[in-house]
Amino acid sequence: MSAISLIEVTAKINDRKSLEGITLEIGAGEQWALVGANGSGKSSLGRLLCNALPVISGNCRVPARSAFVAFEKVDEILEIERYNDDSDFLGYVTEGTPVTKFILSGTAADEAQLADLAQQLGFTAILERGLKFLSTGEMRKVLICKALLQEPELLVLDEPFDGLDQHSCAALRNLITRCIEHGIRVILLLNRFSEILPGTTHIAYVKDCGIFRSGSKDEMLNSEPLRRFHAFHYTLPDALPEIDSGHSAPRLPAEVPLIEMKDAVVTYGEKRVLNRVNWTVKSGEHWKISGPNGSGKSTLLSLVSGDNSQAYANDISLFGRKRGTGETVWDIKKRIGLVSTSLQQEYRVGATVKVVVISGFFDSIGMYAQYSPRQQEIAHEWLELLHMEKRSGDSFRDLSYGEQRLVLLARAMVKQPDLLILDEPCQGLDDVNREMVLKLVDHLGRTGNTQILYVTHHPEDSIPCITNSMELVPAEDGGYTASVRSPVWT
Ligand SMILES: Nc1ncnc2c1ncn2[C@@H]1O[C@H](COP(=O)(O)OP(=O)(O)OP(=O)(O)O)[C@@H](O)[C@H]1O
Ligand SMILES: [Mg+2]
Repeated sequence: MSAISLIEVTAKINDRKSLEGITLEIGAGEQWALVGANGSGKSSLGRLLCNALPVISGNCRVPARSAFVAFEKVDEILEIERYNDDSDFLGYVTEGTPVTKFILSGTAADEAQLADLAQQLGFTAILERGLKFLSTGEMRKVLICKALLQEPELLVLDEPFDGLDQHSCAALRNLITRCIEHGIRVILLLNRFSEILPGTTHIAYVKDCGIFRSGSKDEMLNSEPLRRFHAFHYTLPDALPEIDSGHSAPRLPAEVPLIEMKDAVVTYGEKRVLNRVNWTVKSGEHWKISGPNGSGKSTLLSLVSGDNSQAYANDISLFGRKRGTGETVWDIKKRIGLVSTSLQQEYRVGATVKVVVISGFFDSIGMYAQYSPRQQEIAHEWLELLHMEKRSGDSFRDLSYGEQRLVLLARAMVKQPDLLILDEPCQGLDDVNREMVLKLVDHLGRTGNTQILYVTHHPEDSIPCITNSMELVPAEDGGYTASVRSPVWT
C-alpha cells in the first residue's frame, strides 16, 4: 500500500482560494475520515488527495490510481449528457448514455463484475436506463460502483451516505469494509458525525481551507473544538422577514385542499413508476414523504411543481384548480417554493448569491426581470437568517455544494409560498447548518401561511410541525403507491 504524505502543501482551489499548509501523513492500515463545516475545504482536500488540484508548493505524495466520488461530479456528468442530448433535434426524448455503458467505459471491468456490484448496491433494475433519468440515490450508487471498478488504490468518498435510503447505506457500509479488507484505501469526507464508521481510526478536522487538528478518532471526538462544533444551537429570529405583499398571490380559502390526486399514474416507456396514488393535502397540513431510492418521491413532487407533463393526463387538482383547465405552469409556480437536487443541478447560470435568492420571487433560473429595492431587502434578510449574508456578492457557482443548498433554501423561502417543497433539503449540509435549516423551516411551518412537503432519508432530521406522513410502497401490479404512515418521526 503506497504511503500518503502531504507536507506543508499549498494547492490552488480556484482563482481566489487555496488550501494552505496542509500536512497529513496517513500510515498503512489507518482509516481516515475528514470532517469539517460547509465551505471548509473538505472536498478540495479530497481532490488534492486524488491528484486533481494543482500543487503550488510543498511535498505531496499520493497514490497514482485514485477515484473521487462527489455530488459535484454529477453536475459535470449531466452537463455532458445535456450537451450530447439530441432529443430536441430528433423531436422525441432519447435515453442518452445507458448506465452500463457509462460505468464500464474507462475501466477494465466486465459486465459480470458490474452485475455483481450492482446486486450488492441494489441497482440491477436500472442498468439499461439513461443516466439523465436516474434518481438522486441511483446516481450516487452508479458513481460509487464506477469508482470501485476502476480498481483504485485510493477511494475518496465525499459524503457517500447522503441521498441513500437506509437499506442502501447499510449495503455501502459493508462494501466499504470489504474494500478496506481488499487493500483499497478509503477516505471518507463527512458532514455527519454519526456517519463516522466503527472502523475509522483517525479524524482530521478541516477548517478555513487548512487542517485545523488531526489525530486518533477517540482523541478527536473528545477534543474541545469538535465538541463546540456539536454544541451549536441556532437561535430563532423574533420574526420572519416580511412578505412582499405587492407580488404575492391571493390567499386560498381554507376549505380548498392544496393538492388532490386521484389514482395518479406515472409511466416512463414500459416502466410504471407511480401506480394509483391517492393523496389529499388539506389546508394547514404539512407532510413528510418517504420511500426507498427510486420509489418515485421526486416524481410525485414534480407532478405538484408543474415540472412533469404527465400531470395533465391525471386527475390532479392544485390550489383548488384541476390541472389542464387553462392554468399555466407559472400560475402554479407562483404559489410554490422548491429545493431539490435537480434544481441545484439546473441552476447553472453565472449569477451572484443575491440574485439567486431574488430569482425566487420570479420562479426563474437567473434574473430576467427588474426587481424592487424591497425584494432586495427581503432577500438580504433571508440570507442573514441562514448566515450567508457575507457571501451575497459572490458568484453562486463558486460556493461549496452545501453553501449552494443554503442559498437555494433562502430562494425557496423568500416569498413565503403557499407550498414549500423540500426534496432532501439537507443534502450536503453540515451538522450546524442542518440544525439551522430544520429549525427555521419548522418555525415557518408554525408561524407563517406556508405548508411544507418534505422528503428525507434521515429520520433524525425531523421537522416537528410536520404531523402527516405518506410512504411510497411497492404496488401489487408494479411501481409504487401511497400509504399513509404513522407515527411520522420513527
Ligand atoms: N424520464 C425517465 N425515464 C425513465 N425512468 C425514469 C425517468 N425519470 C425517472 N425515472 C425513474 O423513475 C424512478 C423514480 O425516480 P425518482 O427520482 O422519483 O425517485 P426518488 O424516490 O426521488 O429516489 P431518490 O430517493 O433516490 O431521490 C427511478 O427509478 C428513476 O430512474
Ligand atoms: Mg429523489
